[in-house]
Amino acid sequence: MIASSASGLRREIAGASVAELAETYGTPLYAYDAEVIRHRCRDLAAWDTVRFAQKACSNLAVLDLVRREGVLVDAVSTGEIHRALAAGYAPHAAKAASGDALPPADPIVYTADIFDRDSLDAVVKHGIHVNCGSADMIEQLAERMPGASITLRVNPGFGHGHSQKTNTGGEGSKHGIWHEEIPDVLRRAEWAGLQVSGLHMHIGSGTDLAHLAEVAGALERVAIEVGRSLTTVSAGGGLPVPYKPGEVHADLSGYFTLWDATRKRLEDRFGHRIRLEIEPGRYLTAESGFVITEVRAVKKQGGRKYLLVDAGFNTLARPVLYGSYHPMSVCPRGEEPSHGAEDVAVGGPLCESGDIFTQTDGGFVATRSLPTASVGDLLVIEIAGAYGFVMASNYNSKPLPAEVLVDGGTHRLVRARQTPEDLVRGECV
Ligand code: LLP
Repeated sequence: MIASSASGLRREIAGASVAELAETYGTPLYAYDAEVIRHRCRDLAAWDTVRFAQKACSNLAVLDLVRREGVLVDAVSTGEIHRALAAGYAPHAAKAASGDALPPADPIVYTADIFDRDSLDAVVKHGIHVNCGSADMIEQLAERMPGASITLRVNPGFGHGHSQKTNTGGEGSKHGIWHEEIPDVLRRAEWAGLQVSGLHMHIGSGTDLAHLAEVAGALERVAIEVGRSLTTVSAGGGLPVPYKPGEVHADLSGYFTLWDATRKRLEDRFGHRIRLEIEPGRYLTAESGFVITEVRAVKKQGGRKYLLVDAGFNTLARPVLYGSYHPMSVCPRGEEPSHGAEDVAVGGPLCESGDIFTQTDGGFVATRSLPTASVGDLLVIEIAGAYGFVMASNYNSKPLPAEVLVDGGTHRLVRARQTPEDLVRGECV
C-alpha cells in the first residue's frame, strides 16, 4: 500500500466526511480509523503474543479495540498501568492449565529502566509482571514482591531508529541491561530470589527489518546464557511504517519465520515451549490516525507561501522533534473542484519558529506540493496515529485536542477537547 493519496485531496476518513467531523467536534481533531487498527493487529496473528506498546496511542477506546483483537499491552508508567486496567486488561496471567501448550502470557507488562516510587507501588499492588531495564530494579522489586518472575530487557550493544533520538541500543542509549552484564545480573536475580522467565530486546523505533533481523541472533546468544528458566522471548517493537510517497509495507512473514526458528532452537535446547512475543506501537496505530486542522491564514514571506493552520507542534510534535514527514491532504470547504496545486510551507499557531509541519531534520523549513487551499479549508495531516496525541502538549496554553474513533462510517468522541478550565486546574494564586 502506498502511503499517501495521489490527488492530495481527502474528503473522507473511513467513510465519515472530514467536513462533518470538523463541524461536529471542532479542530484541531485526532480521528482514528478503527478498521485500520484491527487489520494491523491481524497482520501479526502468527506471533503467540502481540503486545501493544501503548505509548504510541493510549486512548482507552484504542486500548479496548486492540484488547478485543486479542492484543496484550505494555505499560511504561503508573499512568499506563492505570490505562490498561481501565481498558479491561487483567493485571496478571491466569494460572497455566495442565494441557496448555504454551506458558501463560501476562496481559500487562511494565517495561522501564527505573521504578519511580509510584510505579513500584502500582506494580506491587496489582501484581504486574516487570521487564527490568536496569539491574537495580531487581533488588527494588525483590524487596516488595519476593519470589516474583521477571523479564530482562537487554541492550545488545547495537541499535537503530528513524532518528538518533529513537535508537535504543548501543553505548549511546540509556536503555536496557548491557549484554555483557548478563552473568552478573543473573547472579543478582538469583541472590534476590527472582526467577528470570523472559528476555526482551528493543533496538529502536522506526527502524527497518534488516536491522531488526540482527536482534534474533543477539537474543539467542543471551538466552543460552540465561538458560532453562526462560519461557518467553520478545522481539520488541520497531516495525516500520510507510510514511513517504513510494514507501511500501515491509514483508513481515520472513521476519516472523526468522524469530520462529530462533524460538524453536531454544525450545529444543531447553526442552520446553517458549512463548514468542512482538511489541509494536507505531505499526498498530500510525496509519489509523489523522489530524484534522483548519487553514486560518495564507501568507507570503518573500517568495515562500505559508499555510497557517490551527494545529501546531503542541498537537503533533513529530516534525519539530525529528523532522518527521507526514503526508498531508486538503479537504476543500465546498464541493468545488480544486484549483491546481502549489508548493507551500505548513505551520501552526504557536509563538515559536519551529512550529512548522513541513520541516526537515535540523529545523529547515521545506515546502510541500498541495492542492491550493484558502482560509476555511481543512488540512489533514496523515499517518499521525502513533506518537501523535500522546506527545501533544499544552504549550502556549493550548488545550489538548479531541479524539474521535471512526468505525465503518460512524464516529464517536473518545476524548473531549480540553477546556480553558482544564488548563488551569490544580493551579492557584
Ligand atoms: N517497546 C519498547 C521498549 C519501546 O521503548 C518502544 C518505543 C516500543 C516497544 C514501540 O516501538 P515502535 O513499534 O512504536 O517503533 N516518539 C518517537 C518514537 C519513540 C518510541 C519509544 N519507544 C516517534 O514519534 O517516532
